[in-house]
Amino acid sequence: MRKPIIAGNWKMHKLAGEGARFLMDLREKLPEAEKVDTVVCSPYIHLPLLTEAARDFPVSVGAQNMHFEDSGAFTGEVSPEMLKDILVEYVIIGHSERREMFGETDESVNKKTRASFNHGLTPIVCVGESLEQRENNETFTFVEQQVKNGLDGVTEEQLKQVVIAYEPIWAIGTGKTATSEEANDVCAHIRQVLKDTYSEDVAQAVRIQYGGSVKPANIDELLSKSDIDGALVGGASLEEDSFLKLVEAGA
Ligand code: G3H
Repeated sequence: MRKPIIAGNWKMHKLAGEGARFLMDLREKLPEAEKVDTVVCSPYIHLPLLTEAARDFPVSVGAQNMHFEDSGAFTGEVSPEMLKDILVEYVIIGHSERREMFGETDESVNKKTRASFNHGLTPIVCVGESLEQRENNETFTFVEQQVKNGLDGVTEEQLKQVVIAYEPIWAIGTGKTATSEEANDVCAHIRQVLKDTYSEDVAQAVRIQYGGSVKPANIDELLSKSDIDGALVGGASLEEDSFLKLVEAGA
């Protein structure tokens, strides 16, 4: 039985104080950590405040990206060691916005995924097809390749900790959600790929989130599906009420 994981991705929204207040306001309201993993992924600059605010209650803090090296001459970058040092627990890797706008490739996703384990960070590895790929019936093969390339070289024990976020690009921020069947079909395919490539144990352990216009109105339906273990949420994670409803749905 996989524990549901609901992660908010604030993208480039909120000032640091607003983020800290958001967490403090949720303090008494979040479900117990035994029932659901709750994660908030903020811009880098908010992270120290958020990890401080998140002490003693059931929420984890995640970054939205990182470099794969521990340190070095990489102006503007942040390392996994730096994230761990300020008690960050999760890191989103290869979000489609980073792939599209900032040149992320399967190769960089793979380096970052492997690096995350050097410092005990849990990677949320994002995959997902474009509208054109969906219309050309390339979804399964494309996503399969992203999963295999992104996880190459990760050990079986590490793989069991990985979270995969399936986010069809055409459904992100558009209000268009994949139907729960469409989403589940791809998540089930990803699980089959994990089984064929690694083992049944790995396939059963990895948590697969759906992302793309998830909101309180559709979360129950999505989470009722066999292979969807949670959600990676953009827009609806910015308001406390809707984020809380999403987390409660996971609990
Ligand atoms: O990381 C989150 C996804 O990009 C989904 O964003 O919920 O605003 O569609 P959205």
